[in-house]
Amino acid sequence: MEPFPTKVVRGVTLRADPAREPCFKVVHEPSELADYPDMSDAARRQRLHKHMHNEMQSLEMAAQSLSDFPDAPWELRMSLARQCWDEVRHSRVLYRRLLEIGGYKGEFPVMNYEWSITCMADSVWARIAIQNRTFEGSEIDLLKRLVKMWEEAGDSVTAELLEGILADEIQHVRFSNLWFKRMSREDPTVLLKLASAVNFVKSVTKALEPQAGETNAVGVDLTGFEHVDVLVSVDDRRLAGFTEAEIGQALLQESALLADSRSSR
Ligand SMILES: [Fe+2]
Ligand SMILES: [Fe+2]
Repeated sequence: MEPFPTKVVRGVTLRADPAREPCFKVVHEPSELADYPDMSDAARRQRLHKHMHNEMQSLEMAAQSLSDFPDAPWELRMSLARQCWDEVRHSRVLYRRLLEIGGYKGEFPVMNYEWSITCMADSVWARIAIQNRTFEGSEIDLLKRLVKMWEEAGDSVTAELLEGILADEIQHVRFSNLWFKRMSREDPTVLLKLASAVNFVKSVTKALEPQAGETNAVGVDLTGFEHVDVLVSVDDRRLAGFTEAEIGQALLQESALLADSRSSR
């Protein structure tokens, strides 16, 4: 793998940002983002804008893996190439919807959070452990909740579009899980890469965790901005190839999080 540029955020070394058109204001910490907790008109545009940008990163991460690991198994490279195709489609449909509701590219600051973490990994196994299994694994839970949220807000067009994206994301998580199952038989050292990748994600999340009272660019209290109502989507996780034990673990973490948030209210 070629050496690559890095950046340091809150003491953690991360991969430097990918290229962006000048219309985007790229920031490096959650406190610089303009995320809203509600469904006001501005919040709707911001949510679509952020999601569009996340899909752009998903494309870039999968494409970077193809470029960085030319010796990865051919079938895995094919799955990553198909994923690139899906992520382009996701970015485009979200961009189109953003324009339809009056938003525009560059309207809100963007952060390359997933890219900067995932692309630090030096093996294709660690990359798919972080991108597909961890980030997209949580995304399938989140998307389920978002579909309901947009429906309740009276926007069934966006809700349907997110449901379509969810179907693709399940497949992205699924192929990574199938590879880990296969590799755990053929080369168990791959599982060590998975474990250290997950630890790296945890350490970055910890470093970027908002401090008490920290607010973002639109004055939202970041410590009160927990997605506690994003529940583990058991059926979708089964479809995505997680084992019953892994789903049980996710449910345990979820109840700990809920208990935590209740006791801090
Ligand atoms: Fe996607
Ligand atoms: Fe994806």
